[in-house]
Amino acid sequence: MCGIVAYIGTKPAKPILLEGLKRLEYRGYDSAGVAVLDGDLSVARAVGRVSVLEDKLQQAGGFGGTLGIAHTRWATHGSVTEQNAHPHRDDRSGIALVHNGTIENYASLRKYLEGKGHTFHSETDTEVLAMLIGELFDPERGIDLEKAVQAALKEISGAYAIAVICEQEPDTLVVARKGSPLIVGVGNGEYIVGSDAAAIIAHTAQAITLDDYNVVKVTRDGFRTSNLDNVSLDAKIQQLEIDLEEIELGTYSHYMQKEIFEQPASIRNTLRGRLDLSEGRVVLGGVSNFAKELIKSRRIILAAQGTALHAGMIGEYMIEELAKIPAECEFASEFRYRNPIIEEGTVVVAVSQSGETIDTLYALQEAKDRGALTLGVVNVVGSTIARETDAGVYLRVGPEIGVASTKAFTGQVAVLAMLSLFLARRRFMSPDASTRLLKELNLIPEKIEQILTQDATIKAITQKYINRENWLFLGRGVNYPTAMEGALKLKEISYIHAEGMPAAEMKHGPIALITDGMPVVVIANRGAQYEKVLSNIEEVRSRGGHVIAIANEGDDRIGSIAEDVIYVPETAEPLSPMLTVIPLQMMAYHAAVLRGHDVDKPRNLAKSVTVE
Ligand code: F6R
Repeated sequence: MCGIVAYIGTKPAKPILLEGLKRLEYRGYDSAGVAVLDGDLSVARAVGRVSVLEDKLQQAGGFGGTLGIAHTRWATHGSVTEQNAHPHRDDRSGIALVHNGTIENYASLRKYLEGKGHTFHSETDTEVLAMLIGELFDPERGIDLEKAVQAALKEISGAYAIAVICEQEPDTLVVARKGSPLIVGVGNGEYIVGSDAAAIIAHTAQAITLDDYNVVKVTRDGFRTSNLDNVSLDAKIQQLEIDLEEIELGTYSHYMQKEIFEQPASIRNTLRGRLDLSEGRVVLGGVSNFAKELIKSRRIILAAQGTALHAGMIGEYMIEELAKIPAECEFASEFRYRNPIIEEGTVVVAVSQSGETIDTLYALQEAKDRGALTLGVVNVVGSTIARETDAGVYLRVGPEIGVASTKAFTGQVAVLAMLSLFLARRRFMSPDASTRLLKELNLIPEKIEQILTQDATIKAITQKYINRENWLFLGRGVNYPTAMEGALKLKEISYIHAEGMPAAEMKHGPIALITDGMPVVVIANRGAQYEKVLSNIEEVRSRGGHVIAIANEGDDRIGSIAEDVIYVPETAEPLSPMLTVIPLQMMAYHAAVLRGHDVDKPRNLAKSVTVE
């Protein structure tokens, strides 16, 4: 979603801010803006890409200061216009502010501020905060920018990450957070603030991660962290765990393509050091302190959204099948508001690539409040969900920049498989049975490598159906969520309408959609329900649908009943989604490229969804 970059130091701020904004483009946005302080404030904003803003700045000239703030906006309050883009300014004190998140009580605050004679120029909640800080700023009475920000933040409810500058304090940048991530990169005589590490890693790998209600006043000589009551706090400078190389495109055309092809390596990383093949045990340092509670748990609830939800649904199958603990996966957003019953022995697992998805975070907080033991299956180290859970397992798949999640999905499934086997082996699974599955898990990366060699074939199959506007994805058992994931991938980047469902469900209504030549992707790997899947394929065929089957190598029956077949190597059934999903990711990628869409900047989408 929205992205923040800010800079204070000795170098010209403008190029650093623009470069940071470009690195945050993947988060999704619809307008951008920058403010630089050089005596006076200069502000420029533009609808559309950062490149539009860059052109505007080039034409305008100026913007020569060494202190500035910048933003990419994903509209929440107010339409996509230049007036609504950030930075927003107050009308009295020369303040400019950028903001991620939403201010829930903005309407009443706006009324109050209008009553005090302030005039608003946008429809946003952010302008209200800029005005409020300006209203409270009173240097003659000792209320400097830092104190005005602290006081204003006490008045608002909602989520925020902000960066604020003021004409009257040319050596000060104030940043703060609650519920929306923000980090302060500490360089050599300079500080670069970003809503994630991608914005700052080109400059420094040392950073302070803000906690909720932290306010940091940064000057060219140092920084001070405080809470909203102006009490000083200790802030630890930490080493960021990402490399610049990991967030560069290299020889690939798109981040999504790069991340699809990275999966053998990313899963090897996920598994590294965690599989003890001789004992049939899984070693998960992040949850070992809670092993006793986990083994005795009576119910495991997985909460997530989107692709992470699909991984969680696969986790539900794996936990029940392997660890024999009742499990269910839910939309975090629904779990949070349906007054969930958390009995003794309930464990809630939040699955999230970013660790910042607000629906998942709120579900986790609700579960904690109700006494559940909470685990995180998270990729971004130090993210909010990772910090708020009692324990957890990191994915270790590296930064995922592509908006359409791919390597995080297979990483999430791999972690949930390990978690299931961690529990299974400690409950009742024999060392032999566990070792067999762990060996299969260990082979997943090389099997993915084999699937990736079929890129040209998969592209050719996709090309055949590229003009069809409606697709179905069917699967059974543990591959029903994989079918859902295939449909989600296709729709989010190619804008083709697609539905994923359990194959049996098709007969209960959706079969009415099947017309001559409609592409129906069926996951038909050899598993417990293989024969039933073949019957479903016949049902599709007899209504004129064209079946693209994802089948196992050596399956010679499927070729005669499906139009097209993509073969994947065989593995243990619970682990099969990590293989069957790969061709679906590749089809979605090719469909989007063939239709001429910008795969890494899909319409309306944000990489991490930090509003409800
Ligand atoms: C789809 C996609 C989204 C995310 C969802 C949850 O490709 O990326 O559906 O999976 O927004 O995000 P995280 O995993 O960051 O909680």
